[in-house]
Amino acid sequence: MTSPASPKTYHVKSFGCQMNVYDSERMGDLLSADGLTAVDTPEAADVVVLNTCHIRERAAEKLYSDIGRLRQPRADGSRPTIVAAGCVAQAEGAEIGRRAPDVDVIVGPLAYHRLPELLKLARTGRAVDIDMPAVPKFDSLPQRRIAQASAFLTVQEGCDKFCTFCVVPYTRGPETSRPAADLIAEAEALVARGVREITLLGQNVNAYNGGLTLAGLIRALAQIDGLERIRYTTSHPRDMQGTGGDDLIAAHVEVAKLMPYLHLPVQSGSSRILKAMNRAHTRESYLATLARLRAARPDVALSGDFIVGFPGETEADFQDTLSIVREVQYAAAYCFKYSIRPGTPAAAMADQVPEAVKDERLARLLAAVAEGSLAFNRSTIGRRCTILLERPGRKPGQLIGKTPWLQSAVVSIPGAAIGDLVEVDIVDAHPNSVEAVPVVPSSQESAAA
Ligand code: 5AD
Ligand code: SF4
Repeated sequence: MTSPASPKTYHVKSFGCQMNVYDSERMGDLLSADGLTAVDTPEAADVVVLNTCHIRERAAEKLYSDIGRLRQPRADGSRPTIVAAGCVAQAEGAEIGRRAPDVDVIVGPLAYHRLPELLKLARTGRAVDIDMPAVPKFDSLPQRRIAQASAFLTVQEGCDKFCTFCVVPYTRGPETSRPAADLIAEAEALVARGVREITLLGQNVNAYNGGLTLAGLIRALAQIDGLERIRYTTSHPRDMQGTGGDDLIAAHVEVAKLMPYLHLPVQSGSSRILKAMNRAHTRESYLATLARLRAARPDVALSGDFIVGFPGETEADFQDTLSIVREVQYAAAYCFKYSIRPGTPAAAMADQVPEAVKDERLARLLAAVAEGSLAFNRSTIGRRCTILLERPGRKPGQLIGKTPWLQSAVVSIPGAAIGDLVEVDIVDAHPNSVEAVPVVPSSQESAAA
């Protein structure tokens, strides 16, 4: 069975976080610049890139099941060139080589600018690059080809926080920030391509320090004509304390283009567990940060991440998590069962929580989160806001756009198109979406009357 000697088409499949979505897009930019054409399915592609996630065990297993499918011979006896990219490639490069001998290229998240070159090397044997290079990959990436209204922009990578459960400091390396001037240039190029909303990405985005602070970068980007909305994610509670946090909160008041939304993972409502997680914040300091933000910007929507079943978590600790969910009233929250990650400190801790207990706690947490999201969505009924239309809805004529608070709003607006920013009134709420109606300009209203 052979992989194509001169591939013409590619498909990039993205797993995991938004930073991987950005990286997948950039790998596509590289392959397109190298003369290959993107196709919609892995089955139709000569080169398949699996951009993997290592954050939880199940995320990593998906790589091996995908490789198993891809290595099956096609009707003409060929198989695609298989690229394992992303954090599993970084963390388990050697093991992938053993478990999946058909993988042609193994490339880590900091080295993928070498993808075209690695594909050429792979013609004579497996090509591997899981280095953490001194010169950042961003300096060698081509122009972006994006044709969407909303784009991601990675501004910061890596993590110095070493939460005891997490692999990211090992797979993405130490915290590094891209220079502000490069980011402003990339944002201007995106806006010239029709992008109207940019989400700034970083594992610890509010630790951004590329010549400006994150708040400074946001203020600079807000000067770009045609850029209508700015978001950022993921923030760390530790970096919200002190003057950096004050500056960001001030930006939420001053910068109209900065959307009223903060993703601030707490992970647990128990200060005892937060200490064991090495989070460097307590339940109380986290709630104090939210209180400062809400005092400055009362309409801000909050989201968070939670882990249930961290080693040593008791029912009382878990009750603290349930109570913080009720207290904060998150617009959205992402809940995970603790997953042992080899090599991290928590993997070696005593008192691992049985799987059945994790399942049962996860179910109770999801119910509390769903209740909170519905309450949040209901609290927005009656608000007038703009939404950025992103995709068609399920029913004919329906479109789905994002409110400033990142809710999916379903509307029917004759003549409107994806990419438009339109003014609507929120009229109904569900757990995962709201319904909206367009605001009729007053001249039309009187004409209709
Ligand atoms: N087990 C479960 N969830 C994890 N996360 C990170 N590491 C683990 C792990 N070992 C979650 C955290 C983080 C999110 C991106 O993934 O909640 O904020
Ligand atoms: Fe992982 Fe903690 Fe760093 Fe987030 S802050 S990437 S959870 S180590």
